[in-house]
Amino acid sequence: MNTHTTYHPSRQLVHDIFYAVREAGFMIRDARRDSQSGELSAANVTDKDTAHAQVNFVTAYDQKVQAFLIEKLQNALPVAKFLAEEDGADKTDPNAGLCFVVDPIDGTANFIRGLSCSAVSVALLSDGVPILGMVYQPYAGELFVAVKGEGTHLYYKGNPPERVSVSNRSMKEAVAVLGTSPYYKDELGETTVSLFKKCFYHAADVRRSGSAAYDFCNIAMGRTDLFCEARLSPWDYAAGFLIVTEAGGQVTQLEGSPLRFDIPCSVLAAGKGCFTDAAKVLNE
Ligand code: IPD
Ligand code: CA
Ligand code: CA
Repeated sequence: MNTHTTYHPSRQLVHDIFYAVREAGFMIRDARRDSQSGELSAANVTDKDTAHAQVNFVTAYDQKVQAFLIEKLQNALPVAKFLAEEDGADKTDPNAGLCFVVDPIDGTANFIRGLSCSAVSVALLSDGVPILGMVYQPYAGELFVAVKGEGTHLYYKGNPPERVSVSNRSMKEAVAVLGTSPYYKDELGETTVSLFKKCFYHAADVRRSGSAAYDFCNIAMGRTDLFCEARLSPWDYAAGFLIVTEAGGQVTQLEGSPLRFDIPCSVLAAGKGCFTDAAKVLNE
């Protein structure tokens, strides 16, 4: 029997996670940079996947921010396990019990270059079901909080939290956001190019941000209308999944099956007005 499916995060826990995520975002926003180019200094950057043709950079900040989050979240909820992107986390099975799913910096390539679009992403799963999701984009000062059954709220500066909801735009009117699965070009390059073409010809226009976690938030806000990527990892989408679904949108794998949080998946997230058409078009 599942023991945690009725688990509901206390106000105190939500508060503790909120402040940990916000603090982590400040670490990213305030990272030291070269004053001329705005780039992170080379000493802070390494390629973590040298065995593959595609570069997959990691920075000292990815590790520092993850260690900070794990310490804070562990204190807030000692029974929880961790599934987190960088080495040093449990890499545990998130399907049993309580588990935090953490991406310390989503949008590392943007972060290295000084492109101000990266986010901290933290989800809490109970027996594999997301019950809480937070994404903080520190350059925009936007912190999104979704609690299962309670909707998605945007915290912006000192303003009172604002409940957000997805758009009702049709596929024809949609701004479609595409992630490029940059670490899987050999395997998924053609699929990605074909997704781009379908989005470009069937929607109004196409965007690419470099942070999947923030892409979900923009869908939840109704700023953009559909987001798809041929493969992402659970830490890229666990929080975003709840942020979009609690804002009234739908999120599945591209071919329609439910998202899984224990393995990488393709993702389609969209607002009410275009999910069905997007699913049809992208699977043609
Ligand atoms: C990446 C970003 C990017 C997406 C990649 C992800 P990372 O995460 O979310 O938008 O296209 O697939 O891996 O590596 O910067 O944490
Ligand atoms: Ca990521
Ligand atoms: Ca990351």
